Amino acid sequence: MKLLVTGGAGAIGSNFIQYWLKTHPEDEVVNLDKLTYAGNLENLKAVENNPKYQFVKGDICDTGLVGALLKDIDTVVHFAAESHVDRSISGPAVFVQTNIVGTQVLLDGAVKNNVKRFHHVSTDEVFGSLELVSQEKFNENSLYNPHSPYSASKAASDHLVRAYHDTYGLPITITNCSNNFGPYFFPEKLFPLAITNLLEGKKVPVYGEGLNVRDWLYVEDHCRAIDLVLEKGKVGETYLVGGNNEVPNIEAVKLIFKILGRPETMIEYVKDRPGHDLRYGIDATKIKEELGWEPKHTFEEALRETVEWYRNNESWWKKIKSGEYLEYYKKQYDGKR
Ligand code: NAD
Ligand code: TYD
Repeated sequence: MKLLVTGGAGAIGSNFIQYWLKTHPEDEVVNLDKLTYAGNLENLKAVENNPKYQFVKGDICDTGLVGALLKDIDTVVHFAAESHVDRSISGPAVFVQTNIVGTQVLLDGAVKNNVKRFHHVSTDEVFGSLELVSQEKFNENSLYNPHSPYSASKAASDHLVRAYHDTYGLPITITNCSNNFGPYFFPEKLFPLAITNLLEGKKVPVYGEGLNVRDWLYVEDHCRAIDLVLEKGKVGETYLVGGNNEVPNIEAVKLIFKILGRPETMIEYVKDRPGHDLRYGIDATKIKEELGWEPKHTFEEALRETVEWYRNNESWWKKIKSGEYLEYYKKQYDGKR
């Protein structure tokens, strides 16, 4: 089988490519990535000389390039996106361009080239926010109710993917996954930001009172879920993927402090994110019962491994946390106290 992975130089995409080449060594993988600020070829050092792996630098909005690449592709796994909520608040245009227009360009190419499966990687954020104190969780029948430009653009892309199935018969599947963590996550997301700030002796910014809840899942469990959906999932269907692991931000941050043996005085409460979703929670019954998927990793063990990874890969994140990143950090956090 030959796969086109979009956004394979990002956090989840690079974990997925490494996972795939290890678990399906007979398959070929083409990685199409624009290498935005979030794309990093160092994430793929382990596979760059693998003859089954090919990297193509390019934009998913480039119709000609996408059409040419899709000519002999069996399966598309579509990760490429602008993915950070805070950046979507300060600059939504690129989110609309990449997440919506880019997805439409890929879908058109997939229809024209009779791709056998188009798998769209999406997020639980499309369903909006749950009450902090309630038993309710998102499931495959939850209504779409996105609040940030990021989640609105991902919601639009989900609708387009389903529309291409219903209108043109494109064989699609979708996964909506909860918050991921693990190696290679860019230090703008909460966990890598907290870990690397502490390793640098800097404070950790926590929005509001830190009471917002996220359902954290180790990235390898997400990769395995996509693998199972590709292998056994029903065409046209959506599967929700979550860790059954809802944790308030402040508790997650305090666990990182505990693992690193740092004092909690290094927590800095900063101004809240506008439109900050209170709680995400996933009911993953469908993927469990239909495909036999469950997370293999426990939260604390996986978080310890993740902290170790950042400790052992200082040069990876130190390079990122210089230059352009410093400008972003200054704009994002200055004047917020
Ligand atoms: P990321 O920001 O780390 O990586 C995105 C990748 O896409 C980068 O390599 C970037 O260079 C590439 N890219 C961006 N615009 C592009 C374009 N126009 N053309 C080609 N490549 C482009 O993102 P991530 O956290 O790895 O997320 C990957 C996917 O998973 C996204 O679709 C996201 O919505 C979804 N998702 C993420 C999470 C999470 O917790 N991070 C959870 C659920 C779903
Ligand atoms: P993030 O990693 O940006 O993921 P998402 O917004 O997609 O869930 O943020 C996770 C949670 O952590 C979210 O509730 C916002 C919060 N947060 C902070 O408290 N401080 C920070 O510096 C960041 C980046 C996020």
